[in-house]
Amino acid sequence: MNINRPRGTNDILPSESYKWQQVEAKVRDICYRYGYQEIRTPIFEHTELFERGIGETTDIVEKEMYTFVDRGDRSITLRPEGTAPVVRAFIENNLYAGQLPAKLYYMGPMFRYEKPQAGRYRQFTQFGVEAIGSMDPVLDVEMITLPIELYKACGLAGFEVHINSLGCPKCRSEYRNQLQAMLAAKADQFCESCQSRINRNPLRVLDCKSPKCRELLKDIPSIQDYLCPECREHFDQVTTSLDQLGINYVVDPHLVRGFDYYTKTVFGILVPTLGAQNAIGGGGRYDGLVEEIGGKSMPAVGFAVGMERLLLALAQENIAFNEPKAAGYVAHFGGKTKQAAVKLVHDLRQAGLWVEMDYLDRSLKAQMKSADKLQSQWVIMIGEDELAQNLVKIRWMNTGNEEQVALDQVAEYLASKREG
Ligand code: HAM
Repeated sequence: MNINRPRGTNDILPSESYKWQQVEAKVRDICYRYGYQEIRTPIFEHTELFERGIGETTDIVEKEMYTFVDRGDRSITLRPEGTAPVVRAFIENNLYAGQLPAKLYYMGPMFRYEKPQAGRYRQFTQFGVEAIGSMDPVLDVEMITLPIELYKACGLAGFEVHINSLGCPKCRSEYRNQLQAMLAAKADQFCESCQSRINRNPLRVLDCKSPKCRELLKDIPSIQDYLCPECREHFDQVTTSLDQLGINYVVDPHLVRGFDYYTKTVFGILVPTLGAQNAIGGGGRYDGLVEEIGGKSMPAVGFAVGMERLLLALAQENIAFNEPKAAGYVAHFGGKTKQAAVKLVHDLRQAGLWVEMDYLDRSLKAQMKSADKLQSQWVIMIGEDELAQNLVKIRWMNTGNEEQVALDQVAEYLASKREG
């Protein structure tokens, strides 16, 4: 019986991994320009971190976590997201003492036991950013512009930014109570999962995808109308600044997101043509989380981008990547010529070039084919007679031109060609 990868996981093969590397390089470049530094936290954490951080009545905590008891009888969970772990690390390593806001980013695997489908996996990769220690709406705006910059740098065009405010515990609880009462009045008409949410987490009903529930939600009042003066002012400053920067967005009062930690600004970035899993990024402010996890009261804001979905969106828009190409190939005929090839390949690699050779004792024809596949610019052929005179032949693959070069001058010759 073959052993296959677990459902909802992916192998990223060399035919794809170079694309990932190019997107990752853009991520690091943008984070550098925005002043975010990398943080790497463990892939697993104590389960309690997510129960407290994300919220016990969220889908993630109720049904999607990979939780197990380890050999020391501790409940451990593979991280379903990066925000709670980063906040835990911020508190544990006393990063309050450093410059505030702490500006951190991460990239790595997350795990959720979801029903796998295109764009939805059980192991997926997030690039996330967290800024801890400032209330300034300017930072909310930075969290929206940074991923947009990444999408644009990758060449993506067809995305939309949706924003909303979830208010603060004060104004949200008033809205929550009103909403709950209204939903309860027609509870039996909602889908099963909404019915169970009405009591436990009524805001989550707002983003149900079922057409019937959407219809029922049509005349539900908007959370935007319940914001207290402080939350209203904060949201207005965010939208004013987005306008000033020329960033298009839609205010979507049904955008609530799947975590209990959000306060004030939330946002989601979608590619409408991507199908059911069309969110390529999302985030928001979480002013209560640091305290909730045991730290000092401290505001914060962040976002995460789903890297698989971003790559799917780029493929859908036929965005081109730079395919890796070998600089050259050294062909040999076995025996002494192979020894000379090994030495030459070694020297050229030390000079910084990607140089390939044959490891299967194949014919010259087969070696030329490999060179072609690798899109080599040149092939050096080491023949026995020429080697006796310390010479090799080099063929330029685009023109078919051939030249003879002294074996010990190949590196200089190639360098002069690169400069020329
Ligand atoms: P999230 O919206 O759950 O937010 O995830 C962010 C992104 O990760 C989504 O927009 C999506 O692109 C991707 N994603 C989520 N689940 C899956 C999945 N099962 N398969 C593939 N991609 C997926 C968060 O995780 C928050 N921690 C974001 C944040 C940071 N908020 C504040 N700071």
